[in-house]
Amino acid sequence: MFDMLARQPDDPLLALIGLFRKDERPGKIDLGVGVYRDETGATPIFRAVKAAEKALLETQETKSYIGPEGDAAYLDRLWSLVAGTETGRAVAGVQTPGGSGALRLAADLLHGMGVRRILLGLPSWPNHASIFKAAGLEIVPYPFFDIPSQAVLFNRMIEALEGAGAGDAVLLHASCHNPSGGVLTLEQWREIAEIVERRGLLPLIDLAYQGFGRGLEEDVAGLRSLLAAVPEALVAVSSSKSFGLYRERTGAIYAVARTQALADTVRSNLASLARISYSMPPDHGAAVVRGILEDDTLKADWMRELDGMRARIRAIRQALAAGLKSRWPALAAMAGQEGMFSLLPLSEEQVLRLRADHGIYMPTSGRINIAGLKTSDVDAVVSRFIAL
Ligand code: LMR
Repeated sequence: MFDMLARQPDDPLLALIGLFRKDERPGKIDLGVGVYRDETGATPIFRAVKAAEKALLETQETKSYIGPEGDAAYLDRLWSLVAGTETGRAVAGVQTPGGSGALRLAADLLHGMGVRRILLGLPSWPNHASIFKAAGLEIVPYPFFDIPSQAVLFNRMIEALEGAGAGDAVLLHASCHNPSGGVLTLEQWREIAEIVERRGLLPLIDLAYQGFGRGLEEDVAGLRSLLAAVPEALVAVSSSKSFGLYRERTGAIYAVARTQALADTVRSNLASLARISYSMPPDHGAAVVRGILEDDTLKADWMRELDGMRARIRAIRQALAAGLKSRWPALAAMAGQEGMFSLLPLSEEQVLRLRADHGIYMPTSGRINIAGLKTSDVDAVVSRFIAL
């Protein structure tokens, strides 16, 4: 019966990993998948992660099951990082296989509770739409970012939110917008919260790059102001980038609710969705994060290393913006954008030409992972772009 299946295309982002690996040119440059790289081109393991892993090796006494909710101590510590220690809000969380797992559980939960539509600002991370569709939700797209002018289309976003119906969900990027790097001000977050509350929408906030924009606190300031203003919200958290745990698949989904009883009911639903999908989340990454966040010395060292990564990305951003604005004046705005990504105004044909002729890899959307560049590569890459 397998001949009834049609061959599926590779995921375009993940396929870049294989294409890049196969390219034997020594000067090739990977601006594709969103992983952090240092000045040597490596994706390092945080010192604090190594230390927490060593401690685990010595002290962990069993590999027995924990349960579909995952580790409560990981969930508590991570939530403090996201929401602060004194939120005064009822919350319940479930540990998930990465941020994608959190988004999928959230989408299944929404569908199960009768939500039919989710508003999605475009462009977005391509897997958002795929996950929501797979869960049976209808995507209501609206334009969020204009590539030629590098502007966040806030008025269009407001129009879309005002046009939504009570009971619709809305996907929001907490910060470090993927793929555009476009920034919402705190004032804009307040406006969004006001509409979400007034129109009875349910926000699902995707937080995948905490610490990679302006700082650990700054990157959740908008999210925190929204959580303080709305009765209910879902927050999908990824520990992949912030703790460099990519392949360990470490994340969480949280529900903020009007009462603790309601939050606990949401948790029981999330746990039962997990049970029929993958049963229980992988433990290792969460145990490492917990080990770091429970140890003041490791936590301080993790923050120092993260600060260094953010500073490196910001410096490369400035250099790219300064170089590229001679050809595209609007790209001066890249300097003020945040996170790993920006979107260049390139055609698919130009992206493929850069790949074929110069071994510069990026998705055909024109998104670049700024963290994929070494300082010493910036000038050469800028000249390649400008010569297109
Ligand atoms: C990306 O957007 O490149 C990352 O989030 C990796 C992924 O899973 O797509």
